[in-house]
Amino acid sequence: MSDRVTRDFDAGAARYDLLTQLNPGYHDHLDRAARALAEAAPRARTLLDLGCGSGSSTRALLRVFGPDVRVMGVDASAGMLARARAKRWPPGVTFVQGRAGSLSELTAELDDPVDGILACYLFRNVPAEARNPALRDTLAHLAPGGALVAQDYALPGQALPRAVWTAVSRGIVLPLATVTGGNPDLYRHLHRSVIEFDSPSVFADRLVRTGFSGVEIATVPGWQHDILHLFRARRPLERGHA
Ligand SMILES: C[S@@+](CC[C@H](N)C(=O)[O-])C[C@H]1O[C@@H](n2cnc3c(N)ncnc32)[C@H](O)[C@@H]1O
Repeated sequence: MSDRVTRDFDAGAARYDLLTQLNPGYHDHLDRAARALAEAAPRARTLLDLGCGSGSSTRALLRVFGPDVRVMGVDASAGMLARARAKRWPPGVTFVQGRAGSLSELTAELDDPVDGILACYLFRNVPAEARNPALRDTLAHLAPGGALVAQDYALPGQALPRAVWTAVSRGIVLPLATVTGGNPDLYRHLHRSVIEFDSPSVFADRLVRTGFSGVEIATVPGWQHDILHLFRARRPLERGHA
């Protein structure tokens, strides 16, 4: 399992946590995403953290849902997973290597249906042609009525968010990654992948077209306003459910 993006994450894994620590708001935004999932699935007991990376988003799920929740973190990068596994976790947390779009072989080990899926900074890394299949697969692994929260940098058409994103990523993020020994290729990929990613309305439309219902979009306050977006959606209840 090795494509270019995965290799960039493998090579950047050692410095990934340091760089997110230097990003003001990163962990607050993960908490915000986890809270959005909890609002939609307040009684959730089994969760997936898709694209869990080094476990920061998994930690946000535990802060919000409590230590007894069952969380399976899934990630394509062995290097990022090694960072996650090296941390201390309650017994309900496990990490497995796998890809968005191929969850069946992984979720077989879960005893209960998946009530909620968090995917922070994942779908931008999934190639455009693989994004709808990955969303369909995500939907198929949610229990009916279960919720998905996807959080990512997604630029609308206006020039300002695009200019702010380019200024911050070229003027701050890339130099910071370079001086702290991070993998510069990963942060070049970060800049480019955001420029090339769906606009918020296009990603929301994908969610609708792949079968999700109740799709909502929100952004955050601060400089990431209109840049960082949260998408919340549900797997519809099947006929016969209340
Ligand atoms: C930017 S990191 C985010 C990690 C974590 N969710 C967080 O918020 O800190 C994105 C993660 O997605 C993983 N990833 C990228 N493409 C993937 C795919 N197709 N399937 C599974 N994981 C993928 C990468 O290996 C990386 O660890």
